Amino acid sequence: MEQTMSDPVVDLLEKVEPLPTAPMILPKLLSALSDPDVDLDEIVLLVAQDPAMAATVLRLCNSAYFADSSPTAELRQAVARVGLYNVYRLVVTACGQSVLSIAQPGWGVEVHDFWKHSVLTGLAAEVLATECGEMGGPMFTAGLLHDFGKLLLASAFETDYGRVSSQAAGDPGKLVEMERISFLVDHAQLGGELLKRWNFPIEVEAAVRWHHSPEVGDGSNLSASIITVADTVAHLIQSSQGSTCAAEATIPGLDRACKRVGFSPAEFQSYVERMREMVTVVDAISQLAA
Ligand SMILES: [Fe+2]
Ligand SMILES: [Fe+2]
Repeated sequence: MEQTMSDPVVDLLEKVEPLPTAPMILPKLLSALSDPDVDLDEIVLLVAQDPAMAATVLRLCNSAYFADSSPTAELRQAVARVGLYNVYRLVVTACGQSVLSIAQPGWGVEVHDFWKHSVLTGLAAEVLATECGEMGGPMFTAGLLHDFGKLLLASAFETDYGRVSSQAAGDPGKLVEMERISFLVDHAQLGGELLKRWNFPIEVEAAVRWHHSPEVGDGSNLSASIITVADTVAHLIQSSQGSTCAAEATIPGLDRACKRVGFSPAEFQSYVERMREMVTVVDAISQLAA
């Protein structure tokens, strides 16, 4: 009888029950925003298809971060007021928060620290992408979701994942290796696979899938390099804040990723300092969806 090989990624995704629901709106919004002729009504229509999201966008648009005039209960007016890109960022942040802020007992990483790491990486990736002449939106999304696979592993293996995570002792390269040995799949692969199933654009999927090995990639490795650099910066900043998302070692492939995005060592340092100064923006974005 013919034996079929099982796929560890498929097996694992089946083990995570229930799988977080796909943020259907995000891939559609991303492709709408990449169209230079997109108009406001198209975006309003997309957001309005999801009543819970429409309510969240209205609430966020009226929040202290954006509201400089009287509150509005009208979605079109709210979108016009804050601008299309800010609406996109709000929707990504709200979707991200709903899938990334699920406490995983036994993992050893605080939900709050993980969420902040995700937002910080998203923002750092957006800034870097823009400097590289790329679109900021897809890289903000990839940065926000880059470690989503860790949450899936923590959900599937609970304290076993917590043990692997603490044995890696803040060394991202060692963590990925240990994940492969213990669970036959690493968090980057797993996150990439889920984003593929959710129909995210290839550059977002590839950036997440290869963020720990940007030199491998598949030709889309500029996006993976952007996430590798942004992730490192987020870890560096969080290390000085005593976060449970701090890393004691740099991410493998960092040198090559820096070269790919065109950073000299001095430019990398100056980017770290610029991102350090943006921590208040990160805090504001982290709290927006709370
Ligand atoms: Fe990672
Ligand atoms: Fe990370």
